[in-house]
Amino acid sequence: MADTTKIAGTGPGSLATAAGMLKHGKLVAFPTETVYGLGADATNATAVADLFAVKARPRFNPLIAHVPNLNAADRIADIPSRAETLVETLWPGAVTLVLPKRADGPVCDLATAGLDTIAVRIPAHPVARQLLERADRPIVAPSANRSGRLSPTQPTHVADELGGLIPLIIADGRTGIGVESTIIDLSGDAPVLLRPGGVAREEIETLLGRALAMPESDAEPKAPGALSSHYAPTLPVRLNARTVEQDEALLTFGPDLRQGPNVRNLSENGDLIEAAANLFSHLRELDHVKSVRRIAVTSIPDHGLGEAINDRLRRAAAPR
Ligand code: TXA
Ligand code: MG
Repeated sequence: MADTTKIAGTGPGSLATAAGMLKHGKLVAFPTETVYGLGADATNATAVADLFAVKARPRFNPLIAHVPNLNAADRIADIPSRAETLVETLWPGAVTLVLPKRADGPVCDLATAGLDTIAVRIPAHPVARQLLERADRPIVAPSANRSGRLSPTQPTHVADELGGLIPLIIADGRTGIGVESTIIDLSGDAPVLLRPGGVAREEIETLLGRALAMPESDAEPKAPGALSSHYAPTLPVRLNARTVEQDEALLTFGPDLRQGPNVRNLSENGDLIEAAANLFSHLRELDHVKSVRRIAVTSIPDHGLGEAINDRLRRAAAPR
């Protein structure tokens, strides 16, 4: 825990400091191409316990281990040959693979919630990669928000969520993709889409030459962030709205003449990539509009990154 949170840039001095803090068990927020992450040394159970406490995250929810390259991934997970195409084409990038965990590997059990699998990601963001190289150990990094809340896509979001609770935020503007990585479970017989995210299902299915299965039950601890409320603003969310009520703010998509202080458009051109990048910041802004009691959201196409957007919106609208 820390009383004051320092916000630093991405120069070599800042990254050296950040890596040093991670090595000493401290928590550091840093940018990735999806959302800002809150990093902790995956090999240090005390640091990981501190991370769970700061986020108020349920202990059974395992974390993603971030590494800078394939060699480092190989030291913590068994990379099966059927993963090769995905690994070669999509890493580094916004895809997380759930793989058999190396029993003799360095990642602590708390990080993987005692599972015999481990979620691994090699981020593409240059700052994230430099930090991971300097830290020289796997770094677990959930989104840098309190558990259940909107993921941060800007440094100010991180400061709003975790200011005073963590010692350092590495700030590098807005994240490019805006929704979390796509999670594919490759530990079983058939590949399973555990969480739609920054790489569209269609792209992965084309690479694999087969359809991705869906998780068997959303209630299992394996299912990321179970369907219960998650990625939630403070205000209630109403989906598939055609009209807006007096006390509602509006989150819309595509050509829409409605404008004003209570309206945000995810993408006037109907571009789902742009919409994903705007999703969490627009929700956050509408959440702060005075005298609004609910956020109405128009329907959004379900293909490409629309699947990840709709997944996050359904969770935001789920009963609390
Ligand atoms: O884009 C991202 O993935 C971001 C950035 C910071 O890298 N991180 C992120 O982490 O979204 P987090 O902790 O918010 O989400 C990780 C999800 C959790 O919902 C968890 O259930 C799932 O990954 N997960 C982790 N390990 C798993 C495992 N062994 N099996 C199944 N799911 C796992
Ligand atoms: Mg999260």
